[in-house]
Amino acid sequence: MDKTFYITTPIYYPSAKPHMGHAYSSIIADFFARFKRIDGFDVQFLTGTDEHGLKIQRSAEKQNIDPLEFCNQISQTFRDLSQTLNLTNTDFIRTTEERHKKTVQHLWNELEKNDDIYLSKYSGWYSVSDEAFYNEDEIEEFNGVKRSISSKSPVEWIEEESYFFRLSKWEKPLLDYYESHPNFIAPESRKNEVISFVKSGLKDLSVSRKSFSWGIKVPNNKDHVIYVWLDALTNYLSALNYPNTNDKLFKNFWPASIHLIGKDILRFHAVYWPAFLLATKIELPLRVFGHGWILSGDEKMSKSKGNILDPIEIINEYGLDPLRYYLIKEVSFGNDGNISQERLENCINSDLANNFGNLCQRVTTFAIKNCNGKIPSEIEFQKDDLIILNKYKVNLDKIRSKIDEQNINFYIDYIVNSLFEANKYFNDQEPWNKKDNLVRLNTIVYTTLEIVRKISFLLNPIIPESSLKALKIFNLTQSDIELETISDNEFLTKGKDINKIDILFKKIEKKND
Ligand code: ME8
Ligand code: MG
Repeated sequence: MDKTFYITTPIYYPSAKPHMGHAYSSIIADFFARFKRIDGFDVQFLTGTDEHGLKIQRSAEKQNIDPLEFCNQISQTFRDLSQTLNLTNTDFIRTTEERHKKTVQHLWNELEKNDDIYLSKYSGWYSVSDEAFYNEDEIEEFNGVKRSISSKSPVEWIEEESYFFRLSKWEKPLLDYYESHPNFIAPESRKNEVISFVKSGLKDLSVSRKSFSWGIKVPNNKDHVIYVWLDALTNYLSALNYPNTNDKLFKNFWPASIHLIGKDILRFHAVYWPAFLLATKIELPLRVFGHGWILSGDEKMSKSKGNILDPIEIINEYGLDPLRYYLIKEVSFGNDGNISQERLENCINSDLANNFGNLCQRVTTFAIKNCNGKIPSEIEFQKDDLIILNKYKVNLDKIRSKIDEQNINFYIDYIVNSLFEANKYFNDQEPWNKKDNLVRLNTIVYTTLEIVRKISFLLNPIIPESSLKALKIFNLTQSDIELETISDNEFLTKGKDINKIDILFKKIEKKND
């Protein structure tokens, strides 16, 4: 198949259980994966856990558990979350798996072979929480503690023998690459940050550690473990069975279409990772998108700050699809956002229950009563019907190109407007007053049903379960949608039975009203 799409989330640290920030990245990635699937693409969607390094070793030590045992437990909670969030990931990788270790060691050997790695001594600041090295000018002192200015994580001084990657050598090639591939880093503001960071000068990067053992061994020097970021980034390749370049997965899906990440880890993905790939002559991913943060108050939500929002609690209270809808609609993609109970309840009541759920109910109930419970066959389109039907067709290419720019805001606005128009159409056409003109009544019902079908397709990547509930009207299943795809211009099958459906969304009684 030539239409292939490979999307990845970051692989998360299983140092504590997942929170809303992790759920956010995963849901957004799932949205893109699902959209591409119903647009006829063969999709590979990877997520997983990043299990080596001092951060994990210390977390395990704190609980007196063997690090692997510790990772087994918490990695499982991330795997479970994928189910809970209804993710369609095609793989879940753990960096402690053999398939991954082999790829990392291979990459290391390649770097060494090309003289991109040398042994020396590192001395400098390190944040275990970020697993990152910081320069003196990236450090501040706060309440007597040195910390990173950008992440606010504490740093410690380390001095030890270490292998280095010749990152400095790649400064110019990286800048050239950014220039010749203006879409490599998105959004634009992030790209500028990266470019100015690289322009300010790249120092060689320490890529091994000697003072602890929880990691993948350096192939020719077992005293060292490979720097956890070189290890972790490689997951995107090991999941495709690299270095077996004849493998179908690698052939079909590399280079990745998009690495979706939070802006906190942009430097690793937009500087170090492409440098490793340039050095090993592997094609670069097509895009790195650094989305914003889910804030708690106005701080980044993170476990080290103790201001965690638990996605499970919200799902238990409101259901999964409302949470997915909220994160996709109310967090302007690329920017920071937060979770507001009031805005979540508004989404449910007004967009989901009123504009979508109610429309589905009204038209099916009406059709069951007035059209013998079947898709009407005797119809004759008039201008109003064709205008609303054609809008969708005309906009499909635009929707596609907006999705390829990760313009989720456009997509969701399009749906919200379409729902508004569909409701308006049904109300204005007043099929209930057309009982003496059955062809007209039928045509209005047909047109509205067709729009319900189209909007349910578009909603499928956002609220998959509810979209399928709505598509039960037409007896359509997920695999039908994937086979028919959104570009399908066949209309509804005339004369086919339509089904009554359950209420899609219950309205929330507002406590303060
Ligand atoms: O950085 N808002 O793992 P991690 C939005 N293992 N997204 C958030 C978020 C927030 N408040 N908090 C976390 C690591 N995320 C490395 C990645 S990849 C080769 C290795 C999301 O567990 C966001 O995608 O700290 C962020 O980049 C990622 O989780 C960091 O997860
Ligand atoms: Mg983090």
